[in-house]
Amino acid sequence: MCGIIGVAGSAGGTREVLLDGLANLEYRGYDSAGIAVDGGASRERNAAARGGIDVAKKEGELSALRRALVGETIDGSVGIGHTRWSTHGPPSDRNAHPHTDGAGRVAVVHNGIIENHESLRTELEAKGVAFSSDTDSEVVPHLIAEALARGADPEAAFREAVSRLDGSYALAAIVEGAGAIFAARHDSPLVLGIGDGANYLASDVPAFLEHTRDVVYLEDGEFAVLTADAWRVEDASGEPVEKEVQTVEWSAEQTGKSGYDHFMLKEIHEQPKALRGCLRGRVDELDGCVAVEGLDGLEAPAEVQFVACGTSYHAALYGAYLLGDAGVATAAYLASEYATSQPPLSPDTLVVGITQSGETADTLSALRKARGRGAETLALTNVVGSTAARECDHVMHLRAGPEIGVAATKTFSSQLVGLNLLIEELLPDASRGDVRELVSALRDLPAQVQEVLDDSRAADVVDEYFGAKSFFFVGRGVHYPVALEGALKFKEITYEHAEGFAAGELKHGPLALVTAETPVFAVVTGDGENARKTIGNVKEVEARDAPVVVVTDGVSDAAMYADSVLEIPAVHERTAPVLANVQLQLVAYHMAARLGRAIDKPRNLAKSVTVE
Ligand code: AGP
Repeated sequence: MCGIIGVAGSAGGTREVLLDGLANLEYRGYDSAGIAVDGGASRERNAAARGGIDVAKKEGELSALRRALVGETIDGSVGIGHTRWSTHGPPSDRNAHPHTDGAGRVAVVHNGIIENHESLRTELEAKGVAFSSDTDSEVVPHLIAEALARGADPEAAFREAVSRLDGSYALAAIVEGAGAIFAARHDSPLVLGIGDGANYLASDVPAFLEHTRDVVYLEDGEFAVLTADAWRVEDASGEPVEKEVQTVEWSAEQTGKSGYDHFMLKEIHEQPKALRGCLRGRVDELDGCVAVEGLDGLEAPAEVQFVACGTSYHAALYGAYLLGDAGVATAAYLASEYATSQPPLSPDTLVVGITQSGETADTLSALRKARGRGAETLALTNVVGSTAARECDHVMHLRAGPEIGVAATKTFSSQLVGLNLLIEELLPDASRGDVRELVSALRDLPAQVQEVLDDSRAADVVDEYFGAKSFFFVGRGVHYPVALEGALKFKEITYEHAEGFAAGELKHGPLALVTAETPVFAVVTGDGENARKTIGNVKEVEARDAPVVVVTDGVSDAAMYADSVLEIPAVHERTAPVLANVQLQLVAYHMAARLGRAIDKPRNLAKSVTVE
């Protein structure tokens, strides 16, 4: 999704801060990028020339923008930058942000969607305003310019423009000569970075992490004004809002690649550490009990509804399986379908939003709907200070560390572990067996993930099946979400056709697709009923000549029916999905690497999807 960076710095030299900030936001996914600067060198230069703010923007990768800036003296003491992920109008130089008014006195970057942009555009055009892009965002600089022309000061002009907007927005604007950045937030994240001699603003903390870790999260309806040495936040009526400056734990180093070719591979290898982070201080090995900070006041719910999207939805399916096993009424909903489903809510229903970023618009909307209908809500998220974390009644953090690759990896593993902890905290008898057994299984998991990472044959399996037509993933019970996740990861970064199925569903339709050219990955652990039945399904596809890869712990004889085997250690039923999924992450990664795909920034996708 779109990314925003802004910097107000007295010493000038904001251009490189903006470009580096945009590079830090590349992981969100984008199709064009741009910056606008004012003051300092830019102002002196423009005073002698045409006047106005300097803007540079380019379709494509950030490198295209950098190339366009070679030899240009564009720089300034305040600036804003943007990476765009198209919603209104195709990717192009003209549709890239920042957008300006006709005179180039105002520049604006925007994340979100201005829903009433058409009527505003018609109104402005009727007054003679000429538009230079197809975007919804361009109405904003024109509205600001109109208010300035009527004599409003820059801050009042910005506020007036914002008051005309319907929809969602994180907005940042600069006005020629004002020496400040004006910002507003509604349904799209915006965070301030408080520095020494410079202040920052971004859609996401990693944008400015090398400059400051002191942050202030804006809430919906708040406005901010930043200069080099001051910042303030006000509500919609202009009243000052006291904001807490929080220090984020993530360091700039953590958000680098640390020698790995891709963030995704780095993050796959960080899983042992991420899981230790999630477990730290939450399990008592002596007593065999679980205690999650901040959740002790939460009553055991009679019913749990999960809402989530994509990978997080697969974690929700796993969570629903655990709760169902514990005899608790539960369901996992795709967040985008939750409003339409309108499932009945009782006073004892807990609605749990699972969201790595805490900013996914579909999930936030589902959580808000649930709250609006009186339900208690809980966010299971990786991002401290995210919208989900701030808006829900309760929050549990994954503590997986920053995830930059668009493909969710370590956060999925952490979600599965986090769900075990959450459910044990809420319903201490949920494991239905020995809690100590579960606690010790969770404690051993990071080392077992390391073992899988060290010994995986995923790269060889990829060599064997390179060039196949389609790839299918099947599993039962707790391995059904793993099959779905294996297929999602595979299609997301390889761009090859992949589908995940409940193993038992194959014969109800998908089997028609199975041929010698469609490898089937089957997850089989233990030797219980699910394993036996999945082996039966493996035989069905084998009989149709499909190559079979089993991900197995070797407890059953599944390997006998397979062409290739990806081994995992024999572990607790609840932790086996984490290990099986690590093998499938590696399969997806190695296939995508062999195909030369843009692994960290797959086409058309974004890390944090902030539109519904
Ligand atoms: C997974 O690899 C995807 N990037 C995507 O499905 C993601 O899980 C989904 O968009 C939800 O994101 P969230 O966890 O941040 O809410």
